[in-house]
Amino acid sequence: MDKFVIQGGTQLRGDVTVSGAKNAALPILAATLLTDAPVVLHGIPNLADLTAMCELLGDLGVSISRENSTTLRCQVQSTDNSHACYDRVRKMRGSICVLGPMLARRGYARVGMPGGCVIGSRPIDLHLRGLRALGAEIELDGGDIIAKTDRLRGASVFMGGPFGSTVLGTANVLMAAVLAEGVTIIESAACEPEVEDLVDVLNAMGAKITGGGTSRLIIEGVRELGGVEHTIIPDRIEAGTFMMAAAITGGEVNVRNARIDHLYAVVDKLRDAGLHVESAGGGLTVAAGQRLTPVDVTTHPYPGFPTDLQAQLMALLCLVDGNSAIIEKIFPDRYMHMAELLRLGANIRKEGPVAIITGVESFVGAPVMASDLRASAALVLAGMAGRGETEVRRVYHIDRGYERIEEKLRPLGAKIQRTKE
Ligand code: EPZ
Repeated sequence: MDKFVIQGGTQLRGDVTVSGAKNAALPILAATLLTDAPVVLHGIPNLADLTAMCELLGDLGVSISRENSTTLRCQVQSTDNSHACYDRVRKMRGSICVLGPMLARRGYARVGMPGGCVIGSRPIDLHLRGLRALGAEIELDGGDIIAKTDRLRGASVFMGGPFGSTVLGTANVLMAAVLAEGVTIIESAACEPEVEDLVDVLNAMGAKITGGGTSRLIIEGVRELGGVEHTIIPDRIEAGTFMMAAAITGGEVNVRNARIDHLYAVVDKLRDAGLHVESAGGGLTVAAGQRLTPVDVTTHPYPGFPTDLQAQLMALLCLVDGNSAIIEKIFPDRYMHMAELLRLGANIRKEGPVAIITGVESFVGAPVMASDLRASAALVLAGMAGRGETEVRRVYHIDRGYERIEEKLRPLGAKIQRTKE
């Protein structure tokens, strides 16, 4: 296993480029199951989660070849195997989004039922309810979801849940509805840019969807879809992470390929805290420069502040003089990073989903353990801002969602090395 060894205390300065969005690429890769024609995708980052998705699609009969470092060519070659086994789904929960397209195209899908995970309970009841509304017969057998249909039929489907609309649930039902007979209306659809990117891909393949990026998707089913060539949107979470890296180290970084229209809530909070954030030349520049002030943040579905940047923001707020509050509304237990930040000298109290952060002068380097993808990013940020040496162990978590993060941070001045544990 690899670890990062970080010498803290340098201000990050310079330009860094954001890769394609993992969470857009995952469902879009699953959409390749909807057609026999070739699908060419540009801007696919080299990430462990996407490699896992490609391996799963390989099991399901999709041949995938790499045309260059960021372009994949995908085409269904066989429909003999429609079983996404638990071992695959367990390692990468995004693989649940093969369920909808496989059911729609093949009339049958067997997918391992994902369990809980370290960021909390991750049910899929809304996915199943949506597919049932389209007429799928669904049962559980041996820990697998078995979904069958003669032909799906359009219906009204409500995708809101106790913590807001579900992103992958919306993607799953949408991909099933594009080949259903008649009109489907998805109410309370997730509005995340990753869902909108999926809508754009599906429409370019011949689907008839209106309302992408809004909470009401109207889908007129078609009999078949064709191929497409598409470039994945930039990763707003990677962009936000680099913005916070500039902030926490007191530096100035131009985050290229960051889309401000995907990051308004984040930009707003960073400006509230006293950072200078400017949109220029297809990117965002973040500059520290003055004393920061505490902020209160609640995570919400898009366009609210994203849960996927909550851990990184917490690391930043740990060094802001005064009391800040974070309320985690999407995954109320997503605070695994807190214990490790405490090891670095942070002052945080938690009451249920609310964390109160009292700023300290500095982090003090120590060995810490990455527990999940975004928690690991928070620890890297803390290590770069801290005094002395921080070791972040189990960096395979970070490799799931950040493409060679240390190679992107080093040119900015970060002292970060990958070594064997
Ligand atoms: C997506 O997960 C992302 N993953 C997550 O990013 C992200 O944190 C999450 O959306 C929220 O933005 C991918 O896109 C691959 P949800 P998803 O269904 O779709 C509840 C990362 O770090 N819910 O939108 O699985 C659920 O428990 C990852 O890159 C139900 O109750 O999340 C949560 O409270 C981690 N029933 C809320 O809805 C359901 O059937 C939102 O979850 C489904 C979800």
